[in-house]
Amino acid sequence: MKIIVTGGAGYIGSHTVVELVASGYEPIVLDNFSNTDVRNINGINKITAKNIKFYNIDCTDSNAVKSVFEKEKDILGLIHFAAFKSVEESVRLPEKYFKNNIGSLEVILDHMQNNNVNNIIFSSSCTVYGSPEKLPVTENSPFKRAESPYGETKQKCEDILNRSSLKSVSLRYFNPIGSHSSGLIGDFSSDKPANLVPIICEVASGKREKLIVNGNDYNTVDGSCVRDYIHVVDLAKSHIAALNYLLKNKKKDVFNVGTGKGLSVLETIKVFESANNMKLNYSIGPRRDGDIDEIYSDNQKVISELKWQAKISTESAMIDAWNWELNKIK
Ligand code: WQD
Repeated sequence: MKIIVTGGAGYIGSHTVVELVASGYEPIVLDNFSNTDVRNINGINKITAKNIKFYNIDCTDSNAVKSVFEKEKDILGLIHFAAFKSVEESVRLPEKYFKNNIGSLEVILDHMQNNNVNNIIFSSSCTVYGSPEKLPVTENSPFKRAESPYGETKQKCEDILNRSSLKSVSLRYFNPIGSHSSGLIGDFSSDKPANLVPIICEVASGKREKLIVNGNDYNTVDGSCVRDYIHVVDLAKSHIAALNYLLKNKKKDVFNVGTGKGLSVLETIKVFESANNMKLNYSIGPRRDGDIDEIYSDNQKVISELKWQAKISTESAMIDAWNWELNKIK
């Protein structure tokens, strides 16, 4: 049962490829390695004891994608991860994000239609909600104006899928953290991370002198921003649940994929410190442009309809994140 996985060598993609193999699927990876490293393919092969087939191609390159569909027959479906994901970079380089994130989806849909591949799982994001009025956010919460071009590309891609004749499930991720406990696969994207947990790990390893908490004057439990942090292995498993649902139900749908719990930046620091038995050097700095006070998921729909629920604790996620930082350095 062949499944094409665009961006399958990336952070969430590689974890999902491992789960696809474990569920008896045959993943075929398309990746241009612009935001990851071939070490993730090696890691997947070690974890699964398989030799994952992959094509080193750019998903905005129509001829390259066409050639894959010509070579690979009997494709059951496709999971589309290939996209740039830095909120901060998208503000600086909006064109790069529109061209890549929207352009790659349009190329993929074109060749899926031409080859009668009708099932797609799309990697969406809670950033489609912008700054929510009501919490927790449900799938029916309104799309506010996106706070970044990154969020805009996810809103646009969902809109394109809604108009497409293909059957699609969009998964709106909250904040993915951690790594596979083996330490063999993880987030290689850009050597200057902007996300909280990778930065915490750099401070813990001494690669970075101090963590700056971006503001503590928000309207939240302790003044620092609140997010819904979900272990990347739990997130990967939600794609298998979504694929099984899509193949059975043949209709379009959207799901929030989060833990349903919010954690502030200061609380996240405390969890990392106690899970890894260390003290972090941090201080309070100014707010970061584009940040919203608080967002976390109402995950009742994904629990009841996909029979999926996050199971891995935030403590375990912090241990796995630290383990990845130590392995990645090697
Ligand atoms: C979290 C909080 C920062 C670094 C991410 C992804 C995005 C999307 C949603 C999937 C914020 C604070 C950070 C630091 C800090 N996921 N922070 N000091 O902005 O919620 O977005 O999740 O689509 O792709 O980027 O996550 O980890 O960047 O920030 O205080 O050095 O941590 O200000 O409040 P964010 P983040």
